[in-house]
Amino acid sequence: MMLLQAPHYAQQSMIDPAGTKAGAIDGFWHFLITTSTIVTAIVFIVLFIALARRRRAADPESPAEQRSLTNWVTASVGVTLVIIVVFLFMDFRLGRAIAIPPQRTPLRVNVIGHQWWWEFQYPDSAVPGNWITTANELHIPVGRPVILRMSSQDVIHSFWVPNLSGKKDLIPGHNTETWIEADSAGIYRGQCAEFCGLQHAKMALMVIAEPERQFEQWVLGARGAALAPTDSTSKAGQQVFLTGGCSVCHAIGGTNAGGTVGPNLTHFGSRLTIAAASLPNTKGNLGGWIVDPQRIKPGALMPPNALEPDQLNALLAYLEGLK
Ligand code: CUA
Repeated sequence: MMLLQAPHYAQQSMIDPAGTKAGAIDGFWHFLITTSTIVTAIVFIVLFIALARRRRAADPESPAEQRSLTNWVTASVGVTLVIIVVFLFMDFRLGRAIAIPPQRTPLRVNVIGHQWWWEFQYPDSAVPGNWITTANELHIPVGRPVILRMSSQDVIHSFWVPNLSGKKDLIPGHNTETWIEADSAGIYRGQCAEFCGLQHAKMALMVIAEPERQFEQWVLGARGAALAPTDSTSKAGQQVFLTGGCSVCHAIGGTNAGGTVGPNLTHFGSRLTIAAASLPNTKGNLGGWIVDPQRIKPGALMPPNALEPDQLNALLAYLEGLK
């Protein structure tokens, strides 16, 4: 709730790094863009000088002029080669430097790509099976590396949170790994960066980086079962959820709903967004999504739901109460 009141939303940008890894990539990017800008400027200056001189030259075909040209071209090719080799060397060096996370106790999270949403699992090393399963919002502690073990349920996706890290593909049948780290608390938007079908653009995520203590509190809450509904409307909403089609695809901890096709909704009410960060998590947006998801995200697996108004209201009260 604290986060909802005072979120620091960082603008999604790779040149506004919020962690050591992204900082290293940003540094290299600046080196590339500065060098390229200087080279481009020099090329244009030399081009204009050459054009002006050629007009003034008495005999451009003379052996002396030809020798001079040959020297210029040879020198330019040499300088270009040196620059490319330096780029290559620095690229390899950066790749090695960011391949392995810093030697601090990392957090481990499984990331599973789906068309078109993200599943996050936080294994519990002490109690096997006591996993947190959530969707589209990745909570991480500030200042600690997070190792992401990634796989895909369907096609190739790519995990990209520009403020925290470069891209890494999620490949069906093959686990990949990357790591991220945030140095300051905030909410960082990420985006699937590999075309994965019709709703690729609406496959976003939020990384919520919190101070360690706040993160531990989130973990405690997230490990628990969903809050049982207390008022009659929410209780009716739970019945709509459990007896309608919802529980075939969605799970809610502490109830009979155990579907694994769609996102786990155990603590759905505390999420900031719905439909993979497509829309803010408000009652109005959620109502529109439940009734006709195809209007918001055509091709998504969720079917339309023709609910009576009082059924829909009850269901919305129940879902928004799942903190
Ligand atoms: Cu998933 Cu693009």
